[in-house]
Amino acid sequence: MNTHKTIFDTTLRDGEQTPGVSLTNEQKLKIARQLDKLGVDVLEAGFPVSSDGERQNVRAIANEGLSLDVCGLARVLTKDLDACIDCNVDMIHTFVSTSDIQRIHTIKKSREEVVAMAVNAVEYIKDHGVKCMFSAMDATRTDLDYLIEVYKAVEGAGCDIINVPDTVGIMAPSSMYQLVKNINNEVNIPIDVHCHNDFGIAVANSLMAAEAGASQIQVTINGIGERAGNANLAEVVMCLHSIYGAKTNINTEYLLETAKMVENYTGIHMPANTPIVGDNAFAHESGIHTHGVLEKSDTFEPGIMTPEMVGHKRRIVIGKHAGKHAVKKSLEDMGIETTEEQLDEILIRIKDIANKGKRICDADLHAVASAVLGRNLGNETIILKEFSVMTGNLTTPTAVVRAKIGDEEAVASNFGVGPIDAALKAVELMIGGYTKVKVRDFSLEAITGGSDALAEVTISVEDEHGRVVSAQSASADIATASVDALITAINILLEKKKLWSME
Ligand code: KIV
Ligand code: ZN
Repeated sequence: MNTHKTIFDTTLRDGEQTPGVSLTNEQKLKIARQLDKLGVDVLEAGFPVSSDGERQNVRAIANEGLSLDVCGLARVLTKDLDACIDCNVDMIHTFVSTSDIQRIHTIKKSREEVVAMAVNAVEYIKDHGVKCMFSAMDATRTDLDYLIEVYKAVEGAGCDIINVPDTVGIMAPSSMYQLVKNINNEVNIPIDVHCHNDFGIAVANSLMAAEAGASQIQVTINGIGERAGNANLAEVVMCLHSIYGAKTNINTEYLLETAKMVENYTGIHMPANTPIVGDNAFAHESGIHTHGVLEKSDTFEPGIMTPEMVGHKRRIVIGKHAGKHAVKKSLEDMGIETTEEQLDEILIRIKDIANKGKRICDADLHAVASAVLGRNLGNETIILKEFSVMTGNLTTPTAVVRAKIGDEEAVASNFGVGPIDAALKAVELMIGGYTKVKVRDFSLEAITGGSDALAEVTISVEDEHGRVVSAQSASADIATASVDALITAINILLEKKKLWSME
């Protein structure tokens, strides 16, 4: 498939239909700018007729001066089309149900009425000088002859592109290929596909449609959308580029950054094993794999897709399957030299901890190495002297921290949405003049039951070069555990930075 495919992103429309997701207008504008930077061709900004707020937001995105085409969604009704026209969009995506099940039970129109409504809508859009995409909703459950009749009718009315939605995600990849081939043989305008992920094969179906001749693919960031979601942009694009040798306008180095932004705004978290953009997508733990990857990354990575291509980083994780090479490399990164015997002993102790079900962080490795080498490795640059946090329903959570940083005394206070947020922001502010480190990941687990449960906090911090260090702390007080883990991680990062600056 040595061709160019265009990418239609519907994160702000179908994506926002994800149960429980509601984006603010400001977040939508930021996502729109990010999708433009990512290189998306068309952005479906929303469904303007649905509310005044939605209409204002679609208009704001359309007037933002982005390079991509901004599209609005409309049923085949004049009021919907007018709402889109009023927003000054570049393209209108108009749709009507064509399958018997939806036609009979939802819109209650005859087949002939549906064709007439579709044609009228397309003519109306074209009379207003706007690009038009027509969707036969539930196309994949529509009688094929009738589906082709509908598509031919809208083609005759001047439609620019037709969409084939697999609305309830029931297609097998081979059937999707055949359907798009059949439509392509009958219709002479470009074909777009919109696949839902009810059976987890939206990406496979989109790729089969692309193989069969669809020139545009509808996707969302992180695959969010109605029910189980839509085809995932990162997966579709990387498959097209790396496996099929096809091209798109996507600047793939922004894939991770975009995924994180949408994850953050929607609160829909990606599992660590999410392909391409998940935390573990380029992480290696087992001895055999890490040894191979440290020698040559392609040994246990696809090679045709590298972390750099998608804005990610390779990570060697020390865990219960760790091998000597990985532990040695991680210790060297911390500036810790060992003999073979010491390394063997560190490996035994690390595996012992991991076998008890604990996640190993840099701080654990550092502590084990200190114990085995019988000396205190590295100085603590930041020593916490005092920490307090005030919270409640009558006050904005506020934290104060005081610490010794090197030879100096530092103090800072900050607000947050909750006590932990305030505490971590106060620490970040306090060290801000000293080093640029930010919190990358934070996780909290209760490790005992009851209101006096012991909380275990794991924090990763990242410096300005994207280098990451993690640490853990446990306490009955979650704010204290958080500050403790953060300061431990920063101290290790500062030690590593001294070393890196000597390299
Ligand atoms: O899933 C679907 O059919 C849709 C249409 C509006 C294209 O989202
Ligand atoms: Zn949909």
